[in-house]
Formats: sequence, structure tokens, C-alpha cells
Amino acid sequence: MTPQTLEPPLVVINYKVYPSTLGQQALALTRKLEGAAASYPEATVAICPSHAELGILAGQTELPVLAQTSWGDDPGSGTGKVLVESLEDLGVAGSLINHAECQVSREHAAKAVEKLNDAGLTSIVCTADEEATRELAKLEPTYLAVEPPELIGGDVSVTSADPGIVTRSVAAARDVNPKAQVLCGAGVKTGKDVAAALELDTLGVLVASGVAKAQDPGAALADLLDGTLTDRS
Ligand code: G3P
Repeated sequence: MTPQTLEPPLVVINYKVYPSTLGQQALALTRKLEGAAASYPEATVAICPSHAELGILAGQTELPVLAQTSWGDDPGSGTGKVLVESLEDLGVAGSLINHAECQVSREHAAKAVEKLNDAGLTSIVCTADEEATRELAKLEPTYLAVEPPELIGGDVSVTSADPGIVTRSVAAARDVNPKAQVLCGAGVKTGKDVAAALELDTLGVLVASGVAKAQDPGAALADLLDGTLTDRS
């Protein structure tokens, strides 16, 4: 199976473990997001369900599916881990690594990114600030995603609460690797927030509560995707 590549502009919807995303509801939510994404073919919408729904969704949707975390360990003895080999086999496009709510050691991140990269899968390494971005850019993930932890789940987007952390993170990443690709997230709720993220020289956003807690997740995603359109009037 050829891995899906995630071309920017990128809107990554992290399902986390919000009630609307779990079990049987995961597919219904995904269908709503597919419906919205279909009207924005120039953008990539990827979803990050919990590990329980990962394989099922990867087999049922054309949207790229990412794991919320994964391990670069070799198959064998080891309990409770989700390995890159499984992602590859199930058609999962890649994985978040080191999300603020699922932090890992640098060694874990390095092993996972190396294995994801070798498999041609997408690695999105999350960071809290520019220092962490600079350090983790050395792992050469597909994307880095800066998300100040204190803004996660809130109503104020990082792009207005602290645009400087985004621009400094982009600069830090590019300092290490001129080709580094950076996303941002935390509090992103609207198309204006997405447009602001792109203005700050990122290639897209990570979003969770703005979609998972929305009354109408499809409409919420459409609003976010409006922000990716370059010729908005
Ligand atoms: O992974 C994305 C996430 O941490 C941001 O969450 O709820 O602020 O969009 P939220």
C-alpha cells in the first residue's frame, strides 16, 4: 500500500478522546468531516482518532488517518504499544509524536520518527515552544507542530494569544533545517485563526475541541477550511 502524503495546507483534526469521537461515533463524525473536506480539494484534512478506532477508520475513509502516538520499537515482546509496522499495514498515514497530552522521551521520539520516515509515513512532532522546536527539528520529522500547552482546549487561538511563539518556532526549525515544515495549534477555532496561522508562515493547524465539541462538526471544519483559501474576498 502506498502511504498517503499530507500536502499543505493541512488541517489536522485530533479526535483526542472527546465523547463525540469514540467507538461507533467515530465513523459518523468522520463521515461529516469527509462531507466538509470534499468542498476544499486544495487542502488536506487528516484525522487522529484514538488507537481503538484507528484501523477501522483507516479502512473506511479516504481522509488520511494519523495515530495520536506510536512507538518505533521492533515487533516482539511489548504490551500496550502501537508500532509503526501496524500503521503501515493498516493504511494509517502516520502519527503524532510527543503531543502535550502524550509526551515521550527524546529517545522515544527519535526512534519513532526514524521508523515513520523509513516507512514513508508522516511524522508530526509536537512541541511546546521554540526551544523544543529547535531541538526536535534535529529529528527531521515531516512536520513540527508548536502548541503552547496552556492554550490547548481554550477559546483563544495561539495565533492571536501568542503569534510570536509561532514565528519564533518557524525560525528555530528553519535554522536547524531550512526545509522544516511547521504547523501550529491550540485554541484554533475559526477560518480567521487558520488564515492567521498561514500568514505566520506555517503550513497548517492542529485542531481538536473546535471540531470535536462543535454542535455541527462539518460546519466547524468548513469554517476552518475557509481560512485556507488564498483568494478570500
Ligand atoms: O492536537 C491539537 C490540540 O492539542 C489542540 O487542541 O482543543 O485547543 O484545538 P484544541
